[in-house]
Amino acid sequence: MSIQFSDEEIGLNAVNETEVSKKKLFNPEGNDKVQNRKITGGDTTNLFNLNDTKYSWAKNMYRVMMGNFWVPEKVDLSNDIKDYKKLTKHELKAFKGTISFLVFLDSLQTNNVPNIADYITAPEVSTLLAIQTYQEAIHSQSYAYILESIVPASERAKIYDFWRDDKILLERNKYIATIFQNFIDTPNDETFARVLVANFILEGLYFYNGFNFFYNLASRHLMMGVADEIRYINRDELTHVTIFKNIILALKDEKPGLITQELVHQMFDEAVQQEIEWSNHILDNHILGINEQSTEKYTKFLANMRMKMLGFDELYEGYDVNPYAHLEKLADENNDGVKSNFFESTVTNYSQSSSVDDWDDL
Ligand SMILES: [Fe+2]
Ligand SMILES: [Fe+2]
Repeated sequence: MSIQFSDEEIGLNAVNETEVSKKKLFNPEGNDKVQNRKITGGDTTNLFNLNDTKYSWAKNMYRVMMGNFWVPEKVDLSNDIKDYKKLTKHELKAFKGTISFLVFLDSLQTNNVPNIADYITAPEVSTLLAIQTYQEAIHSQSYAYILESIVPASERAKIYDFWRDDKILLERNKYIATIFQNFIDTPNDETFARVLVANFILEGLYFYNGFNFFYNLASRHLMMGVADEIRYINRDELTHVTIFKNIILALKDEKPGLITQELVHQMFDEAVQQEIEWSNHILDNHILGINEQSTEKYTKFLANMRMKMLGFDELYEGYDVNPYAHLEKLADENNDGVKSNFFESTVTNYSQSSSVDDWDDL
């Protein structure tokens, strides 16, 4: 005689349905009708029916991201080899340390974005995360191209491994990676909220003191090729900020209470402190046009702007002026006509001739 167990007894109902859960890969009973779609927790079949979309911003983002395609090797770095020899010892330290941090961020994103995509049930949004993942891989590879073009072979490994010996870099890499790992190990609403905000901060705040260092060099006609590479990366990162902004804004409606101002303020404040500490450590008050005051002003200004994008209050009163406004033009234009619209993080300036006009044209 066989013993029958109820679902409850064998734990099938143990998962709280309000908590996030990984989507099924194959779900023939699913329903992708537009009115049923949700950012997470939807009943998707995973079929990419992209003729019907609920999230209209995703259609626009798809065109923009595809129009932004670029190849690192198309940027000529031959003059940068000569410039590299002209850098001061402080600029060299900043160059290597900044690349080291950027390599970490892009490597982490290449590996981590698919973990988030596993929980996204709107096909039009999943598509964007697939493109983001491939862009993060291109960014990771672009640093390899920069290093092999400019930096002697004997110094490259030290740049990749800098975080192993540099306590401040190790701590901040560990901080962000732990948030991502906690979500992988224990996926629930709390870890999901933290991973989304961490992504928004990574894409919207972590890169930018580093980017500005390269624009600062370019403003002095140094390392112009590297600055071009950074503009392409910068342009992509701004689309990633926009993706996570839109995901978070949609979730504020769909899962009220998941992402709160309190959480965003707490995570931003920690991130701002780390960003300032790291920037002061690596830029060292010895780069012309960058010092501890400008780093603090810029980081808090940028954090305020990003929090406003999410519809939350600013955290830092009086930090409403960008001390690097003079670099804005450098960030926005390069020889290839790349527009990164650096400070607004809007996508309206991106359209290129290579962009498709409609999903139906694909
Ligand atoms: Fe990236
Ligand atoms: Fe990114």
